[in-house]
Amino acid sequence: SIVPVILSGGSGTRLWPMSTPERPKQMLPLTAEQTMLQLTAARACGERYDAPIVVANARHTDMIEEQLAAIGCRPQALILEPMGRNTAPAIALAALCATNASAPLLVMPSDHVIEDVEAFRAAIESALPMVEEGWLVTFGITPDAPETGYGYIKIGEPIAPGVNRVDRFVEKPPRATAEEMLASGGYAWNGGIFLFRADYFLDALAQHEPAMLEAVRRSVAEGERSGTHIRPSTRAFAEATSQSIDYAVMEKSDRVAVVPVTMGWNDVGSWDALHAISTADASGNAIRGEVIALDTNNCLVRSDGLRIAMVGVSDLIVVASGNDVLILPRGRSQEVKTLLEAIKGTQ
Ligand code: GDD
Ligand code: MG
Repeated sequence: SIVPVILSGGSGTRLWPMSTPERPKQMLPLTAEQTMLQLTAARACGERYDAPIVVANARHTDMIEEQLAAIGCRPQALILEPMGRNTAPAIALAALCATNASAPLLVMPSDHVIEDVEAFRAAIESALPMVEEGWLVTFGITPDAPETGYGYIKIGEPIAPGVNRVDRFVEKPPRATAEEMLASGGYAWNGGIFLFRADYFLDALAQHEPAMLEAVRRSVAEGERSGTHIRPSTRAFAEATSQSIDYAVMEKSDRVAVVPVTMGWNDVGSWDALHAISTADASGNAIRGEVIALDTNNCLVRSDGLRIAMVGVSDLIVVASGNDVLILPRGRSQEVKTLLEAIKGTQ
């Protein structure tokens, strides 16, 4: 059966003030009653799947265990990183700790939305035969806007039903390039979801990033293990170069395939993105928490405590969490990053 690998290392800074280093995006109930981590775990559940391997920062151990226990999910391993080293070392940890080296690993970010889970499952099924033959498979999302925050994949020739060779990767292109690729067709967004056998992935890493693999291997050998908790040694893991799987392996290997899929995927990277996928009321407002809004249109308003009252405004994003309130016009939520730097400067 398939082993889900859930990556939970990101900090989701653009969703401040709700997302914070203590409780990042994936641990928040942003799109549903359940948190994004819970939704991710629930997506890869059932008879086709083993219990997941979760790779996360050690500071979030308790929160992760509580959230998974609340939906009856018991990970086979919880790998607790001493620090973030990006996705290549995180996935290498999972591949090294998988009890069955020839099992297919389904690597999933913990902070994405997939509306059409049936389409996702069908895409996984079409990928599996090629995965057995040693291919490293990524899922290509049909793009509908010239997004610059995603990687793009040029879809190559078909190699099996529903599976194509990857011609090339273009990671986070500038706007003009993104527009060209969208207009020319034949490109997909890299969804950051991967399917490959642990052994074949480790072979590819050994070929392209041998030093990184060695450092990660040592971090496991010299680390600690108690029950399902695996703590890689800090000293060895720190030596692994910080690199994404895209750069470290996918762009370099020649056995990389893509399964194009349309599945209502969104990486919920900003408040605007969340507004776009939220169900709005008759006035176009997407509201959560104690909010009184009169003559207010097309706003995203969220509060986890404070009462928010507004009248006569439109196209605003208003988010209150703890002691912090964020207010900005729709369309500018990418600037939360800049705002956070300014806040740091005043502290
Ligand atoms: N455990 C662990 N450790 N997880 C990590 C780490 C780490 O050090 N770094 C990142 N992750 C997790 C994040 O939580 C996220 O779920 C996922 O890995 C991807 O990392 P991001 O940092 O969000 O990557 P990105 O958004 O810049 O780019 C990737 O994802 C895009 C789609 O969302 C790339 O694969 C792009 O090509 C892709 O389009
Ligand atoms: Mg991301």
